[in-house]
Amino acid sequence: MATARKSAPKSKARTKTAARKTAAKKPTARKTAAKSASKTASKKTAAPKAEAKPSKPRAIAQPVIRRIWPLEADAMRRHLCRLDRDDRTLRFGRPVTNRFIQTYVDRIDWFRDIVIGAVVDGEVTASGILTPIGWRLPLEGSAAVAVESNMQGYGLGSELTKRMLTIGRNRFMSRIYMLCLVKNERMYRIAEKFGGEVDRFRDETVEAQFDLSRPTVSTVTTEAVSEGLALGRTVVGKVPVIGALANGTHAA
Ligand SMILES: CC(C)(COP(=O)(O)OP(=O)(O)OC[C@H]1O[C@@H](n2cnc3c(N)ncnc32)[C@H](O)[C@@H]1OP(=O)(O)O)[C@@H](O)C(=O)NCCC(=O)NCCS
Repeated sequence: MATARKSAPKSKARTKTAARKTAAKKPTARKTAAKSASKTASKKTAAPKAEAKPSKPRAIAQPVIRRIWPLEADAMRRHLCRLDRDDRTLRFGRPVTNRFIQTYVDRIDWFRDIVIGAVVDGEVTASGILTPIGWRLPLEGSAAVAVESNMQGYGLGSELTKRMLTIGRNRFMSRIYMLCLVKNERMYRIAEKFGGEVDRFRDETVEAQFDLSRPTVSTVTTEAVSEGLALGRTVVGKVPVIGALANGTHAA
């Protein structure tokens, strides 16, 4: 009994230390995730574990970032319905219902809008939708992004935004707008990172505006290679990545 009582604080202290170490690792892991996504878009995901040992590399899974197609409308719907109340408010401007989301997905024009997502085992876990505005040249677009709460903070929002900007550029869009709530600090940061100008629009909303240059061989190749790799990865299946993110974080 005495031994048990003595050992309890020790194990608690060990747990706290492990948690502190994991917390300290998180930003690095997130940056690695975004970097690896932009290079290959071909890894996979595992659930984050609070007490994973950084010194012991292991296989982890990462999502594939790729185009989402009309046949995946149901996966898209399930993904948006998994957003909690706060995220729905940030994504749609108000805490919308599942029925609203159902109608929203039904109204996606799959042949005009560009839908991309981070897919894990066939389930969409994060998404970006780029919608062309009107038909006149120069073409403009509006974009929106959503990352499910368990996947947030690992660079997916940034990666999806970056890819939508490249895709928009390759479609000769001159400007892309993203509307978000004033309190959405993460979106400010993402806009700032990719050269967006943020204008306060109304009381509660701000508009991030991205001015795009003409496409280049490099931007077209980047998009084609990303899609090709993602397709390859989807067909080949899960490829374990040994030790890339030793603490088991999600990555693109
Ligand atoms: C906004 C959202 C897309 C961000 O996705 P994410 O994958 O969590 O974002 P990232 O991991 O790429 O992080 C983006 C940046 O925000 C920063 N950030 C994280 N938390 C932050 C906070 N509380 N305050 C300020 N910046 C923060 C990160 O450090 C990162 O910047 P860095 O790369 O320079 O370090 C996601 O939180 C989300 O889906 N929210 C709900 C829906 C929504 O808000 N959609 C946007 C409407 S268009």
